[in-house]
Amino acid sequence: MSDQQGTIESHPLGAKTYPPSPEFRAAANQQDPSIYWRAAEDPEAYWAEQARKLRWTKPFTEILDWSNPPFAKWFADGELNVSANCLDRHVEAGLGDRVAFHFEGEPGDTRTITYAELTAEVKRAANMLTSLGVQQGDRVAIYMPMIPETVIAMLAVARLGATHSVVFGGFSAESLRSRIDDAAAKLVITADGGFRKGRVSALKPTVDDALSLDTGTELSVEHVLVVERGGNDVSMQEGRDLWWHEEITAFDAEHTAKGFPAENPLFILYTSGTTGRPKGIVHTSGGYLTQTSTTHRDAFDLKPETDVYWCTADVGWVTGHSYAVYGPLANGTTQVLYEGTPDTPDWGRWWEIVQKYGVTIFYTAPTAIRACMKVGRQVPEQYDLSSIRVLGSVGEPINPEAWRWYREVIGAGSAPIVDTWWQTETGAFMISPLPGLTTLKPGSAQIAQPGIAVNVVDDAGNPVERGQGGLLIVERPWPSMVRTIWGDDQRFIDTYWSKFGDRYFAGDGARLDEDGDVWLLGRVDDVMNVSGHRLSTAEIESALVEHHAVAEAAVVGADDETTGQAVVAFVILKSQQHLLTPENAEGELKKHVASQIGAIARPRQIFVVSELPKTRSGKIMRRLLKDAAEGREVGDTTTLADTMVMQTISDRVRAER
Ligand code: WTA
Repeated sequence: MSDQQGTIESHPLGAKTYPPSPEFRAAANQQDPSIYWRAAEDPEAYWAEQARKLRWTKPFTEILDWSNPPFAKWFADGELNVSANCLDRHVEAGLGDRVAFHFEGEPGDTRTITYAELTAEVKRAANMLTSLGVQQGDRVAIYMPMIPETVIAMLAVARLGATHSVVFGGFSAESLRSRIDDAAAKLVITADGGFRKGRVSALKPTVDDALSLDTGTELSVEHVLVVERGGNDVSMQEGRDLWWHEEITAFDAEHTAKGFPAENPLFILYTSGTTGRPKGIVHTSGGYLTQTSTTHRDAFDLKPETDVYWCTADVGWVTGHSYAVYGPLANGTTQVLYEGTPDTPDWGRWWEIVQKYGVTIFYTAPTAIRACMKVGRQVPEQYDLSSIRVLGSVGEPINPEAWRWYREVIGAGSAPIVDTWWQTETGAFMISPLPGLTTLKPGSAQIAQPGIAVNVVDDAGNPVERGQGGLLIVERPWPSMVRTIWGDDQRFIDTYWSKFGDRYFAGDGARLDEDGDVWLLGRVDDVMNVSGHRLSTAEIESALVEHHAVAEAAVVGADDETTGQAVVAFVILKSQQHLLTPENAEGELKKHVASQIGAIARPRQIFVVSELPKTRSGKIMRRLLKDAAEGREVGDTTTLADTMVMQTISDRVRAER
C-alpha cells in the first residue's frame, strides 16, 4: 500500500463546498443529473450515442467487443478519419472562418489560424508525407516545440492512417532514440529549435545525436523533416534531412481523407512504468475520439461558438494530445497555443495571454498554480481575467489551498474548477465534476464521468468501506482505454490486469468519502509525480548506475512544495574510481541524469552514502529513504540487515537541510 496514503488533507465534515451558481447551471451543457443513471444503465448505448456525433465514413454496428479481455474493441466495424473529424467536417459545416488557434510564440510573434487554413495546411502536409512513403501502419516520431506545425504534423499523420509517437522536446537523445527504436519509426518530424525561457532550445542536434547512437538496433528512420523555427544553425544530412518549408511548396491543399477502421492505431505515447523501460501506450481512433470529445465538451461545459479555450500542457504529454489537439479540435474549439514558459519574460505572461485573447476556459496543473501562488497574487491581479468562466486542473491531486487560490485569484471567486483525474492509459477524463451539476469539494476529483464506473478496493479486490484508503480500479472497459503496450501484450496484461481480472488497476490509491466522492491519494507503485509528470524510480536509478563512478543507487519521490514530488537520489560511489569525489558527485550526477533521460528527471538532491538500507534479502527499503528525504522520523527499521545505516543517512540529510 502507498506510503502516501493520508497525506492529502481529508475533507472535513462541514467544510465549505461550492455548488454551481443558478446562472451557470441554467446554461450548462449538462444540467440534468439523470445523465448519470441513464449512462450507468446502459453505458454502451451512452457511448454509442456520443460516437454517432462524429462523422463515420462507414457507420459502426458493433459497440463494445470484450470477448477477449483485456483487449477491448470499440465500434470495430466502423470506419472514420480522425483528422477529417477535426477539420474538414467543420469547414464543410460552414465554420471554416472560425479560429482554430491563436498561436503565441514565446518571443511575442503571433499567428491566427482558422479551421479552413488549418485544414489546408494539414492536407498539404499529408501530401508531403505521402511522397515520403508514409502510409497506414507506419510510425512517425514527432519531436517538436509547441508550434502550429506540431499539431499539423500530428493531424497529417492521422489523416493517412499512420501512427504518431510524439516525444516531449525536453527528452534526451537517448530517450528519443529508444522510443524511435521501440516503434521502428520511419520518419522523424522535428524543428531546428524552439523558444524556451528567452532563448532558442535546439532540437535538431538532439535528433542527430539520437540517430547516430549505436544502440544495437538497426536504424529504422529514412527521413527527418525539419521545421524552421528557432533559426539556430543546424546541419542537414544529404538525402536524409529535408526542410519542411522547402518540401511543402511542392504540394497542394487537395487531399481526400480516407476512412480507417475504428481500431486503427492513432498514436503511441511513452510513459514511465515501474521498471526502467518506458511503456508505449497504444491508443486507437474511434473510441479515443469519442471519449476525448465528449469529456472535453461536458466537463469544461464547452460552447464552441463563443469559448476561447487554453490548455497549457505540452503536446508531448497525453494532456496535450487529448485536450489540446483531438478533443478540442473534434469539437470545433477556438484555442490558444503558447510556445513558451509561464515566466518568460516574467510571471505575467500567462495572464497577459488570457487577457489578450479573452480566454474563457483555462486548464493547467497544480504545480503551475502553486508556482504562481509563490510569486503572489499581485501579478495576475494586474490583468483582466474576467473572461474566465471555467477552470481545470490535472496531473496530481490539487491541494485545497491551491484550489481556493485558483478559484479566487484566477477565477474571480466564481469559476467552477474541474479537477480531472485520468492517465496516459485512460486517454480521456475518467473522474471529474460536471460544472453545471456538481457541488465542488476542493481537493477531490469527485465523480466518474457518465458511462464510466470506478471503485476503491482492497488488495483482494473487495470494495473498501467509505472513508478507507484502497486501490482505484475501473470496473468496465471504456472507449478511450489503452489497447496494449506497443509490441508487448504480456506487459500490458501484467501491468494492469493481473491483479483484478478484467477490472483495470490504475496504480493510484484512493478513498471514497461519505458522499461517494473520490479522493486520489497518489501512486501506489514506484512511479513518482514531479510537476504532474510521471517518472519511474527504476529508470532514474538505472541512469545513475550507468555512470562509471556509481556502484548503487536508490531514488525516491519526496514531497515538494511546488512540484508535488521531487526526485531525491542516494548513491554509493565505486571505491576504485577517480571520476567523482563526494564533493563534485552531486552536480555531475544531476547533469548525467538530465542528459540520459531529460531535464525533467534531474534530481533535486543527490546524497552520496556508503550504504543503502536493505532488508536481509537484499531489497532496498525506499520507504525509509523517503522518510529521511522528507525530514521525517524514519519508520520501522527492524527488518534492515544493518539497522545503523538509516541513522547515518538521516544525519547526512539533516546536515544539508
Ligand atoms: C496522477 C496525466 C490526482 C495520477 C493526465 C495518475 C492525478 C497519473 C490527477 C497519470 C488528478 C493525474 N488528481 N491525481 N486530477 N490527474 N493524476 O499518465 O497519479 O501523465 O495515475 O496522465 O497522474 O499521469 P499521466
